[in-house]
Amino acid sequence: MTPEETDGGPARVDVWFRPTLDISAARLDAARSLLSAEEQTRARRFRFAEDARDYVLAHALVRESLSASPAGRSVEPPAWAFGVAPGGKPFAEPGGTPSFNLSHTRGLVACAVSEGAPVGVDVERADRLVDARAVAARYFSRAERAWLDRLDASAFATGFLTLWTLKEAFVKAVGAGLSFPLPEAAFALDGPSTIVFHGPPAASGPSWHFALFQPTSDTRLAVAVQAGEPPRITVRSWVDREEGPASLAPLRTSAGVRVGLSEASGA
Ligand SMILES: CC(C)(COP(=O)(O)OP(=O)(O)OC[C@H]1O[C@@H](n2cnc3c(N)ncnc32)[C@H](O)[C@@H]1OP(=O)(O)O)[C@@H](O)C(=O)NCCC(=O)NCCS
Repeated sequence: MTPEETDGGPARVDVWFRPTLDISAARLDAARSLLSAEEQTRARRFRFAEDARDYVLAHALVRESLSASPAGRSVEPPAWAFGVAPGGKPFAEPGGTPSFNLSHTRGLVACAVSEGAPVGVDVERADRLVDARAVAARYFSRAERAWLDRLDASAFATGFLTLWTLKEAFVKAVGAGLSFPLPEAAFALDGPSTIVFHGPPAASGPSWHFALFQPTSDTRLAVAVQAGEPPRITVRSWVDREEGPASLAPLRTSAGVRVGLSEASGA
């Protein structure tokens, strides 16, 4: 199925994640063998072995995720080539192939693939050392800061992590990088399971949809998708794929987003 030959239903977004801390040397070598010469050179330049490991596994996951997608099945993982859009967002070549986005945090990598809808993914660790108040003051909206200020310390940490991950996923879907005015991409976490987006109104085009997951106990994963109707988002562990992995249940979604495999997806 090509991107144009969808079944007319909601956009399909497949997200694969891979914990990296306990990777064997053999699996790391196998992942490295999928990368281009340029990617292998970049991997050798990291100062810390953990960063090189995560880079190798992230870029191997991109290649494998694209080749596992309905539109990419005829392309072997090492055969993908990549370009970079003006805002810095990488895309797969040749044109017309799936949209994708990659994220890594120490010990976890993730890749989202869609049939063409703009997509962004972000993974963050709960224990990442940042000055949350300073980040919020600079990048969060007034309403987001007011909401955080009403929370106790534990709820504040979780709320901050959730907002940060959602904002990053949105900015990465847009592809604008650090030039995007992050306070304008604002979220409200209404009730126990809902995400409400108060972002800049799209001048035209489809609306934005979001979902939030917890791939491991100390991480969050957010997905942002721009599509005419709420998409179907599936988040699975790449490690377990041979067993037909179960998809993660979301912590939160925006209205109408469907999560998990559909009976007809064939994946
Ligand atoms: C680069 C950026 C897009 C994301 O950075 P990040 O969250 O630190 O890193 P992630 O691991 O999630 O994403 C990095 C990957 O995204 C992709 N990427 C790079 N530029 C991108 C862009 N403009 N748009 C979308 N994806 C991009 C790349 O594949 C990159 O991995 P690679 O360098 O190995 O190829 C950028 O938005 C950034 O640095 N943001 C930080 C902004 C911030 O300080 N926010 C405060 C809290 S809201």
